[in-house]
Amino acid sequence: MDSRAVIESVRDGRASPEGMAWFARGLASGKVTDAQAGAFAMAVLLKGVPEDCRVALTRAMRDSGDVLTWDLPGPVVDKHSTGGVGDSISLLLAPALACCGAYVPMVSGRGLGHTGGTLDKLEAIPGYNVDVSEPRLRALMRETRCAIVSASNRIAPADKRLYAIRDVTGTVESLDLITASILSKKLAAGLQVLVLDVKQGSGAFLPGVDQARALARSLVDTANGAGCRTSALITDMDRPLALTAGNALEVAEVMDTLTLRAPSARLLDLTCALSGEVLFLAKLAPSAEAGAAKIRAAIEDGSAAERFGQMVAAQGGPADFVERYANLLPEAPVIREVPAPGPGIVAAIDTRAVGTAVVHLGGGRLAGGDAVDPRVGFSALAEPGASVGPGAPLAMVHAASEAAAEAAIATLQQAYRLGEAPAPVALVQERVA
Ligand code: URA
Repeated sequence: MDSRAVIESVRDGRASPEGMAWFARGLASGKVTDAQAGAFAMAVLLKGVPEDCRVALTRAMRDSGDVLTWDLPGPVVDKHSTGGVGDSISLLLAPALACCGAYVPMVSGRGLGHTGGTLDKLEAIPGYNVDVSEPRLRALMRETRCAIVSASNRIAPADKRLYAIRDVTGTVESLDLITASILSKKLAAGLQVLVLDVKQGSGAFLPGVDQARALARSLVDTANGAGCRTSALITDMDRPLALTAGNALEVAEVMDTLTLRAPSARLLDLTCALSGEVLFLAKLAPSAEAGAAKIRAAIEDGSAAERFGQMVAAQGGPADFVERYANLLPEAPVIREVPAPGPGIVAAIDTRAVGTAVVHLGGGRLAGGDAVDPRVGFSALAEPGASVGPGAPLAMVHAASEAAAEAAIATLQQAYRLGEAPAPVALVQERVA
């Protein structure tokens, strides 16, 4: 077998499980070049592969590195999102779950396409180190019960390589590749329970509700088949999740919520829904609703904020981050209003365009290896149904320069459509188990 033969077989609709597994091993060993990986990703995206090939790719990517096993006095759990704009849920969920009896060794990713990445957000915190060795991760589970880290070169190295190549080759939007990418690293982390947040709407990689259902089904079946108790919630990404998009800005919104200084109802509600589902699957709560109530209590009594602070300190960040986050997070030099094009009501938001504007401001990557500017993005994003116009802007833009701010203002004005107030959309739409 060789790379060209595997790529041709996918291109011509004759992919085989053996070929997919061979390619995953070749990604990790270096036998496959970057050009071949890009061509493979494009062939999978355009043609799709049968389920047995998707499962073979997922398992071989998982097995391309170490697969962790745990011996802890509680369930090892996690959640993963299929990618969104302003989606900072992991930062609230990991410490909240740790307060409720679970262990959360969260292996996260960086920004992908127009979506933000949990690791890029955490790196907005001065000193926070996402590159943690396996012995240190094990120590962190005993110390704080939660850690948010990058996949080391030893965890699913095939995904690490393919993820970076997909990010810059327009090959993210594939049900097969998203399934293999998410599950290879999550299953390699040795989880007992996993809950997936499958996004639907204009900011999702697969925007249609049928696509979201198919992705949720693929993820849930593949993960359960590999022995990890898994369910999925399909959630709204037809608008940015909350009021900010951009790395440091989202961390500040998380902290405003965890400390209850200015809690975001949507961040709280989605954190509770997803974590409640985790506690239920982990048998730490009799129902998802009871689990959600436990999580809400852990946030409202301040223990989740305290645990977040412990996690930040344990991973190299400031010991007083929870108290002083407003002074410690970096700020953009240019902060300007994004005026509405006229008076009106927000009828719809092209959420992908909002995410892409953040990437162009420097908050994500346009080429592999680009540095990310943690300071930039949008805050105070007007929500669907809001009145905008003179004195009520669409958002505030945070930029590295006046020119970058101008470009982002023009993009955001195009991303917002004014008109009739839209019907309310449920944040959590369906459960897939
Ligand atoms: N998250 C991942 O880890 N991989 C994807 O492909 C999409 C979202």
